[in-house]
Amino acid sequence: MGSVMLSLLLNGAEKKGKLVQSPAGTLTFDRNTMCGAPARTVGWRDPGYIHTSFLKELWPNKEYTYKLGHRLVNGTTIWSQEYQFKSSPYPGQNSVQHVVIFGDMGKAEADGSNEYNNFQPGSLNTTNQIIQDLKDIDIVFHIGDLCYANGYLSQWDQFTAQIEPIASKVPYMTASGNHERDWPGSGSFYGTLDSGGECGVLAQTMFYVPAENREKFWYSVDYGMFRFCIAHTELDWRKGTEQYEFIEKCLASVDRQKQPWLIFLAHRVLGYSSADFYVAEGSFEEPMGREDLQSLWQKYKVDIAMYGHVHNYERSCPIYQNICTDKEKHNYKGSLNGTIHVVVGGGGAALADFAPINTTWSLFKDHDFGFVKLTAFDYSNLLLEYKKSSDGQVYDSFKISRDYRDILACTVDSCQSTTLAS
Ligand SMILES: [Fe+2]
Repeated sequence: MGSVMLSLLLNGAEKKGKLVQSPAGTLTFDRNTMCGAPARTVGWRDPGYIHTSFLKELWPNKEYTYKLGHRLVNGTTIWSQEYQFKSSPYPGQNSVQHVVIFGDMGKAEADGSNEYNNFQPGSLNTTNQIIQDLKDIDIVFHIGDLCYANGYLSQWDQFTAQIEPIASKVPYMTASGNHERDWPGSGSFYGTLDSGGECGVLAQTMFYVPAENREKFWYSVDYGMFRFCIAHTELDWRKGTEQYEFIEKCLASVDRQKQPWLIFLAHRVLGYSSADFYVAEGSFEEPMGREDLQSLWQKYKVDIAMYGHVHNYERSCPIYQNICTDKEKHNYKGSLNGTIHVVVGGGGAALADFAPINTTWSLFKDHDFGFVKLTAFDYSNLLLEYKKSSDGQVYDSFKISRDYRDILACTVDSCQSTTLAS
């Protein structure tokens, strides 16, 4: 059994808050839930127990101190060290909010001792930059391809140890990628061997996400002035599916007056990327991505759609059906009329090449490791910064300045078409 002890510290004052003990659900899984090798064979290791506790009735924007306990069969409880976090702003709260987003980070050893094929060379740099900036980060989204354990289960512990300084302090939200989920015959949209037989079990048990069904891994997050809609590209998203219905509901149900910043997140590129492998097939995206989702992004005026999977950084203009809806490159004012697509898959795993081709919609490309930081200053001003993991400096940025009336204004597909009755 697990539990979490929680004490409230108001304004960082000395420990005089109320002590609350919150029960936890305890999960584990056995070898038979793995879909194949190596997860089911040489890569298997007993995962122990994963406790999940819901801390209820938290006040927004307050500092809390907590520790985690595991009660043994003999009745004694083993306690962790104490950690602190600041509780989230309430949905619609008008205050400065910082969000970090990246994909495909993986893990690495500082001395290089345990790194197979040096596949995730940028991982420690990304982790360390985020830790250094943590006082100015409120929530983190790691949008798929989390640790590349690929069926060697002990690597999940290596990964969670690496991100502990982050995940113990701010929400560490995950999406599911091919390296978490894909396995032939397991219902994944792509039948590859990329999860090494894990077929989603590790990701959906090790990390909590507020999905109705964690196996399906799509969910929404309301954080201050943001609404995030997180899709799962490894399960079918096309029109007519349960996931499509969820995406539409997530985009449609947000009150943009209070949560003006609407962000779509997914692992594989469903929008726009100049990665050589997409260009080679002439798609610039996962086939069928845009085809099915473009009208939703436009109808519900999604500001930014972000993806991982392609290990580099690329930013598009505000775009609709391959056409830039605004010629501006850094300061967007008023209605965007399109969605800005950002590939931010350079979290740490071996970099992906761009095709030697320049499109009109691609405004900035960087073949390096990095991550994105979004800052919402208020209901009318949003800043996106792309930082390199090597030095934490900003190499690309843009601002959106607009008011509620600009969101209400009709653009193509976003208001009901009218007919002249005859
Ligand atoms: Fe991927």
